[in-house]
Amino acid sequence: MAIQWFPGHMAKARRQVTEKLKLIDVVIELVDARVPQSSRNPMVDEITAGKPRLIVLNKADMADPVVTDAWLRALKREEVEVVAVDAKHSKGLKQLITGAQKLMKEKHDRMREKGRNPGPIRALIIGIPNVGKSTLINRLAGRNIAITGDRPGVTKRQQWIKMKGGEMELLDTPGILWPKFEDQLVGYRLAATGAIKDEILNLDDIALYTVRELHARYPEQLKERFKLETLPEDGVELLELIGKKRGLISGGYVDFEKASELLLNELRHEKIGRISLETPADHEMA
Ligand code: G4P
Repeated sequence: MAIQWFPGHMAKARRQVTEKLKLIDVVIELVDARVPQSSRNPMVDEITAGKPRLIVLNKADMADPVVTDAWLRALKREEVEVVAVDAKHSKGLKQLITGAQKLMKEKHDRMREKGRNPGPIRALIIGIPNVGKSTLINRLAGRNIAITGDRPGVTKRQQWIKMKGGEMELLDTPGILWPKFEDQLVGYRLAATGAIKDEILNLDDIALYTVRELHARYPEQLKERFKLETLPEDGVELLELIGKKRGLISGGYVDFEKASELLLNELRHEKIGRISLETPADHEMA
C-alpha cells in the first residue's frame, strides 16, 4: 500500500480512532520491532490518552533480539505494557493476551468484587500500514478474516471478532495511522524495512542509508553475507563492492541500481540476519 501524506488523512484517521476508543477497553498499538519508533505515529500518545495501551513489537522474528529486549524495557511505563510478537508464525500471542489482562486487572477485580462479570477484553488494533495488523487479527482469531480497514465513503457496522480463547474481542477494522515523515530518517527506516514503497524515496538513497547503517551496527553480518574481508568506510564504495562481489557489472561499471535492489531485497528477506535499525539509545530513551 502506498502511503501519501496529507494533513487531511491524519485528521480523518484521528477522528476514526477517537470514535472507536469509546467502544474499547485497551488499545493495541502495533509497531515494527526493527524500527519501533519510526513505525509509529508520534501523536498516538495524545490520541489514545486515558486508555490502557499494549505496545506490540511485531515482526520480532526479523529484529535483533538484544535490541528488542532494550525496547521492551524502554517503552514500558504506567498504563502501558509492551510485548514482542511474531504474528506471522503465531509467536508471543499468549504474552499479548496476558499483557492486555494485566492492564485490565484492577478494573476487572473491582467488577468481580461487585459480583459483575467483566466479560472479554475489548480491544482495537492500531498502527501504520504494513506493520502486520491483518496478520495479527487473523492469528488471534484463529481464522482468516477479510480485513478491509476504513474505506473512504464506506460506512459499515463495527463487528467484534472473538478471539480463540474467548479472553478478548477485537474490532474488525483496525485503526490506520500514518507515519510522520518530517524526519527524513523515518522515511529511510521505513523504506529499508519495506514498510513503504521504494518509489516514494530514491532507491539509491535508501540503499546508501541502509548500507551505512549496516556497516555501523552489524559489520560482521555484512561481511559474512557478502564474503567481504574488510568494509570500506565510504557507503558508495561499500555498495559498489557488494555489487562487484555479486557480478552486477554493466559496461565495465557496477550497476548501482541493481546493487541497491539486491541489498534491500536481502535485508527484507532476512538474508543478512536479524537486524534492527534503531535503538532506544538513538532516541535517548535508554
Ligand atoms: P497491515 O494489515 O498492518 O497492513 O499488515 P499485514 O498484516 O498485511 O502484513 C504486512 C506484511 O508483513 C505481510 O507480508 C505479512 O505476512 C508480514 N508480517 C506480518 N507480521 C509478521 C511477523 O510477525 N513476522 C514476519 N516476518 N512478517 C510478518 P507480505 O509479504 O505482504 O505478505 P505474505 O507474503 O506474507 O503473504
